[in-house]
Amino acid sequence: MVETTISVIKADIGSLAGHVVVPDFLFELARKELKAGVENKIINDFYVTNAGDDLELIMTHNKGENNEEVHRLAFETFLKGTELAREKKIYAAGQDILSDTFSGNVKGMGPGSAEMTIEERKSEPFAILMADKTEPGAFNLPLFKIFADPFNTAGLVIDPNLHDGFRFVIQDIMKDVPCFVEMKCPEEMYDVLALLGSTGRFTIKKVYRADGMVCASVSTDKLHAVAGKYVGKDDPVAIIRAHSGLPAMGEILEAFTLPHLVSGWMRGSHTGPLIPVGLKDSRCTRFDGPPRVIGLGFQVSNGMLVGPVDLFDDVAFDITRQRAMEVSDYLRRHGPFQPHRLSDDQMEYTTLPKVLSACANRFVEEEIVPKGTVKDTSDSAE
Ligand code: 13P
Ligand code: 13P
Ligand code: MG
Ligand code: MG
Repeated sequence: MVETTISVIKADIGSLAGHVVVPDFLFELARKELKAGVENKIINDFYVTNAGDDLELIMTHNKGENNEEVHRLAFETFLKGTELAREKKIYAAGQDILSDTFSGNVKGMGPGSAEMTIEERKSEPFAILMADKTEPGAFNLPLFKIFADPFNTAGLVIDPNLHDGFRFVIQDIMKDVPCFVEMKCPEEMYDVLALLGSTGRFTIKKVYRADGMVCASVSTDKLHAVAGKYVGKDDPVAIIRAHSGLPAMGEILEAFTLPHLVSGWMRGSHTGPLIPVGLKDSRCTRFDGPPRVIGLGFQVSNGMLVGPVDLFDDVAFDITRQRAMEVSDYLRRHGPFQPHRLSDDQMEYTTLPKVLSACANRFVEEEIVPKGTVKDTSDSAE
């Protein structure tokens, strides 16, 4: 059977009027480059879109994951786009490009990637979820719900093909060398949750059905850890297969109705709700957010993409969006205070440590009585 690889490679290479949207000329450039990639038989098919300020290259091919030619095509597209964005003085041109020397793979070079190699089933529906103003751990909660929570996914109870559960490959993204663990749900559910609750540290890399069939893949690239400083959040993407012995498309989307709190938003330094939106709302405005996720549904047929359908462009998500806006409004009232602003360890790669280090050498080891203060004499007043 023919194996098809779905690769989603993305980068923020410059955005319009702040961190809002990818400018049109970058879409045009990306489509032209990927069309040449099809002509040169590097990829079979592609779709270009944006999650806010992130340019998303969705590609299919038969070359497997981490393929040098495919990664080079994406990387060179980003380099050419960066050059054009710089010429036009587009904001944050080349934001996610940490080096312009390609070394065989986009990993560690700034762009994020999620890839999955599948044996095409009789019909092969899948969703690509792309988020802006957040981090890979934002997908922990929905992916757990999709593949392990029977209150979300009816099929876990109803469909015998899902009944044996799913295996999660979880990555410790704080480690310099990639580090993974495999855990099975429902058997090890509490251990899975013990890890996945730490969204800034442990993220789902892949999900497999009990019998080994691959079902989901997430980008886990840590841009700031590579750059050593704040250069935007690692806005993540996920590929999730649906139906015929896997969670249904509606069960995948159901997991985004909370809307749950994630790290990111303004300056990558705040907690906010993840709003599911249609493509027309794929732009972050209020306080550079709130964080949002778009979903495109495709089918892959003999290596070619059929679709997409704009999955969250539906009134059924209006209630989620309304709740998210109320939560946003409530959180914003906290201004610079935690937990709206992230905790100190999460602020390590932002510009806050510079401000704090200027304050640090003013601290002394006894309580200060400011000059000109009238001392309290009530003790000796008898
Ligand atoms: P599948 O078994 O094809 O996934 O169908 C399930 C379904 O009908 C979901 O609504
Ligand atoms: P991005 O990571 O989406 O570029 O956003 C950066 C930022 O600082 C938003 O305020
Ligand atoms: Mg940006
Ligand atoms: Mg972004």
